[in-house]
Formats: sequence, structure tokens, C-alpha cells
Amino acid sequence: MTDRILITGAQGFLGRYLAAHWLASEPDAVILGLGRSPARPDTFTHAVGWGGATLPAPLPPALVRTLATPRYGYRPVDIADGPALARTVREFRPDIVVHLAAALRDDPPGRLVRTNVGGVVALLEALRTSGATPRTIVLGSSGSVYGALPGREPPFGEAAACAPADPYAATKRAAEELGRILAEAGALPVVWGRIFNPVGAGQDERHLCGWLGRQVAEIGAGLRPPAVVAGPLDTTRDYIDARDVAEALRVLSARGAPGCAYNVASGRETGGEEILAMLVALGGLPSPVERVRRPDRSGDVARSFADVSRLAALGFRPRHTLRDSLAAVLDYYCECVADCSSSAPTRSGPGTGERF
Ligand SMILES: NC(=O)c1ccc[n+]([C@@H]2O[C@H](COP(=O)([O-])OP(=O)(O)OC[C@H]3O[C@@H](n4cnc5c(N)ncnc54)[C@H](OP(=O)(O)O)[C@@H]3O)[C@@H](O)[C@H]2O)c1
Repeated sequence: MTDRILITGAQGFLGRYLAAHWLASEPDAVILGLGRSPARPDTFTHAVGWGGATLPAPLPPALVRTLATPRYGYRPVDIADGPALARTVREFRPDIVVHLAAALRDDPPGRLVRTNVGGVVALLEALRTSGATPRTIVLGSSGSVYGALPGREPPFGEAAACAPADPYAATKRAAEELGRILAEAGALPVVWGRIFNPVGAGQDERHLCGWLGRQVAEIGAGLRPPAVVAGPLDTTRDYIDARDVAEALRVLSARGAPGCAYNVASGRETGGEEILAMLVALGGLPSPVERVRRPDRSGDVARSFADVSRLAALGFRPRHTLRDSLAAVLDYYCECVADCSSSAPTRSGPGTGERF
């Protein structure tokens, strides 16, 4: 059977891994990706730093090769543009929809609301009014919806109370609730994937592993002094390889129960110090590496990891260790970014925001 899959946010970090994984796993699958930007066959939509310059984040060559097929198409459509979405849905007639278009943490609150809340509303309304009948609609949510409640400790199960701690998490939680109401009203088969902390080649340096990975790779390449800029690394998170996230979303599309949320995570708790130590060891740097302190972010949740039994009950198990994922981040900088930075147009400057 040929499945037609609509992926929003398709040129983003997880969208690329998902589209490539689907094409590789299902030889008959046909994918239409949506995003605002024009088609970019060889870069993500964000930038990365390298040696003091900033460049469009190159797509790892394996993803470029897998996505270069007539079974993959891309169309620029803003997720908040209801009529354009409805037209697209009528034309493409998706069997499965995976919604990953989003504004991310640190984006302005107005954009977070418009994209994350307005986007879910526009997408579900477009599906309802266009008469499309997808088998499943997977909405990408976030493990950050659990937030922090006094006296409560992780692991967080899907039935746990949610107390988002920042505007991004609040919009993801609001989108879940609005999505639930609209899905019930329109009899739409919606499943939520509460994604925790993906790691992988090409990730945005707004996330800890990308931020630290780039610096370790730069030190190894002799492009910066042997000191890592980092804030306090005392929080814990639940890291999962981007390739495993892709498979988990595919499993949810096939076997997720409509109306149900699933944690997409490894179930392992890892501290920021451990991430840095693993990167330093993988990068062959002397340990401990010198540190330059940066101020912490406000509103950070101290500990977070998931109870993954609901997703495991669908038969999903992560295939990649955290060490694999961090090695992929380092290789990405040492091979892919280093290569591209010598040929691509770059901008000099402090890089992509010193946060950690
Ligand atoms: N990465 C993480 O750490 C993480 C953790 C938990 C949950 N998640 C969730 O996973 C999903 C994917 O995240 P990601 O890391 O892949 O983010 P990403 O790399 O920023 O990808 C998101 C994509 O959404 C597109 N987009 C943004 N605004 C849009 C709009 N108004 N209309 C259409 N497309 C729009 C962007 O492409 P254009 O610029 O082309 O529009 C971007 O490529 C999101 O729902 C996110 O909340 C991610």
C-alpha cells in the first residue's frame, strides 16, 4: 500500500530525520513536506557556528541522498495560513499527518503563540474542512509540558499534571488542549508525541548537546582555546537520538491510540556534566576541560526524564546509545560543518547565541 505522508516543519531538524527515515523504511511511501522557507536540499532551516563564523546548518550527506527522490516533495506553506493548508490537504490527500512545524524556546512569545497554538488550530481546521480522512495525525508536543511542581520528582508519566515553566512549554501545552477539543469535535484521530531532548547531527545550538558539541569539536580542530563556555550543568534531561525520535513518531502513526499522548524519550536521566564529560572523552580532549561560566537561563526545570512504558507497550525501543548520538554530533562538526564552512558563505560573529 502506498502511504501519503504530510510532514509539517519538514526542513527542520526532526522533520528531516523523520522524512528520511520514512522513505528508507517504506519503499512505497510518498512524502510532502511543508515549511515557510524555500526548498533547501542541503541545509536545515537554522544556522550553526564554526570557528567564529555562522553558516546555514548543512544537512548530513546521508540525509541529502535519501531525500533526493521523486517520492519526496516540498511546498512552502505557512502553518498559520488556513486556506493554503486546506488547499494543500485537498490536493495531497494525506493518509498520515505529522505536525512538527513550531517556534522554539527563546522565540518571542507572540511568535510562539501564533505558530505553536495557531498552527495546531489551523492544521486541524484545514483537515476538518477539507474533508480529508487521514488514518492518524501525530502532533509534535514536548516533554517540557510537565514543567516542575513542588515536591514532584520524575519520571513523568503521561497522566502527570502539567505545569509548563516557560512560554514555549506553555504554548505546547495549550496546543495539546486546543487540539484535543478540536479533534474530538471533528472526530479527528489525533495522537500526541511529547518529545523530550533529541540529540543528533545538525541539531540547533540552542540545545545543550549542539552547543557543547560544537565547542569540543572546535577545540579539537584548534579553532578555539581549550576552554568550554557553559552555564551551570546541574540540570538533568532525557536525551534520545533524533533517528530514534523518527522511528518513535512512525510507530505512533501506526499504533498510537487516538486521543492519547505518548512520551518520546529514552527513559534515562542524564546530567549536563555527564554530557560534557562524554563529549570531551569522545573528542579526545584532556579532562577536565577548562570552563568559562555563563549565566544560567531562568525558569529551568532541575530534573526531567520520562516514564516511557506507554511508548514501549507499542513495541518501540531506542536503538542508539547516548554515546552514539554525541559521537554523531562531533562527527557532524568535524566532517560536515568543517567541509562546508570552507566553501559556504559565512558571517563572522559570535555564533548562534551564547546561552549555556
Ligand atoms: N529539538 C528539540 O529539542 C525538541 C524537543 C521537544 C519537542 N520538539 C518539538 O519537535 C518539533 C520539531 O522540532 P525541531 O527541533 O525539528 O525544530 P526546527 O528545527 O526549528 O524545525 C521546525 C520547523 O518548523 C518550521 N516552521 C516554523 N514556523 C513555521 C510556520 N509558521 N509555518 C510553517 N513552518 C514553520 C521551520 O521551517 P521554516 O523556517 O521553513 O518555516 C522549521 O524548520 C517541534 O514541534 C518542537 O516543538 C523539539
